[in-house]
Amino acid sequence: MRFFECSSLPNHFSPFSSQFLTHLLILHTLSLTVEASTRNNYQWSYDSDVFGGPDFWGLVEKDWWMCRKGRLQSPIDIQPDRLLFDASVKPVRLDKLPVLSEFVNTGQMVRIRIGYSTKKPSVNITNGPLYGYRYRVQRIDFHMGRGKENGSEHTINGRRFPMEVQLVAFNTDLYPNFTAASKSPHGIAILSVLVDFGAQTNQELTKLTIATASISYKDQRVQMADFEPWRLLPFTRDIITYEGSLTSPGCHETVTWIILNQPIFITREHFEEWSHLYHTMEGAEKVPVAPNYRKIQETNNRLVRTNIQHKMSYNCNVSVNKIHYRANHVAPQQHSTRRHNNPFV
Ligand SMILES: *[C@@H]1O[C@H](CO)[C@@H](O)[C@H](O)[C@H]1NC(C)=O
Ligand SMILES: *[C@@H]1O[C@H](CO)[C@@H](O)[C@H](O)[C@H]1NC(C)=O
Ligand SMILES: *[C@@H]1O[C@H](CO)[C@@H](O)[C@H](O)[C@H]1NC(C)=O
Ligand SMILES: *[C@@H]1O[C@H](CO)[C@@H](O)[C@H](O)[C@H]1NC(C)=O
Repeated sequence: MRFFECSSLPNHFSPFSSQFLTHLLILHTLSLTVEASTRNNYQWSYDSDVFGGPDFWGLVEKDWWMCRKGRLQSPIDIQPDRLLFDASVKPVRLDKLPVLSEFVNTGQMVRIRIGYSTKKPSVNITNGPLYGYRYRVQRIDFHMGRGKENGSEHTINGRRFPMEVQLVAFNTDLYPNFTAASKSPHGIAILSVLVDFGAQTNQELTKLTIATASISYKDQRVQMADFEPWRLLPFTRDIITYEGSLTSPGCHETVTWIILNQPIFITREHFEEWSHLYHTMEGAEKVPVAPNYRKIQETNNRLVRTNIQHKMSYNCNVSVNKIHYRANHVAPQQHSTRRHNNPFV
């Protein structure tokens, strides 16, 4: 299934046989060269009933003011009839390599922190709408629902999906580290994959589902052997892109979002495993991490572009594929009138 589907092209799903299930976790001693994560001194949360919840993000920390004032915030609802076809948007490329990685429960979400070494270089996101810049994948964030509630951050025509996986990368051509990039123009690119219910779980997501048992509580972490981020992506060249923000504090508007036009899948049983992840430390009263998504933000007439082209020619009402524009004609007479009325002369 595709989010925007106008022809019945064959799907290429479930390419991975999920034969292996064990031997996935190796607790090895290799330490990650991950950039020291900036300690947020305020314990923010996704719980709108508490101080520190989304309505207060912009108030509790000086650096988080964009969460309240920003007008290019994320996530947004992707509306099929508002997509603009742009032939210049090429498919995105993600290096197909294993990475050094650590799966961690931050209390607000579960996240994969990615490191690199001489043997395992960083994996980069390039092409797509990224203007030739190279972005290094720094972490992968998981947003999810629980029980009957779905938990993706972006919605498609109002529909929320069970989960959203976000590969967060920073521009290494311009900035020395993630922190600097997250506050600077063209600093961040996020490759986002929505997760739907299906008969089989994506292979890499299966590894992670098993690993959730090791990080039930806040601050627990486990190293993953030979984790390959690219295996979380569906097989599609079709993307949707727009300029927005981080969806957690400080909500900086430095993010080029790239949403793939197909979901990956998780079984309902595996999805259920993710509900045993807690916001709280071991021993404390259990408060689940999920649901952990930020509510939909105003689009404010932003351009949401797509390269979904080949399906547009026939019986498809999804997008604008012809643009006719003309320059405004200004008569000389109007010029002089305007000059005459110019209050600044
Ligand atoms: C990713 O980019 C970095 C430079 O930012 C480079 O050192 C590394 O080799 C690249 N990774 C791959 C797989 O090409
Ligand atoms: C959650 O997602 C599932 C699978 O896509 C869908 O069938 C269900 O209707 C969604 N539930 C809600 C409440 O939106
Ligand atoms: C990130 O880079 C900035 C700018 O060069 C520097 O001031 C800062 O100390 C660096 N932060 C970390 C965590 O390395
Ligand atoms: C496209 O839109 C027209 C009119 O709005 C409608 O009659 C037609 O059924 C639509 N076609 C598809 C494939 O949705």
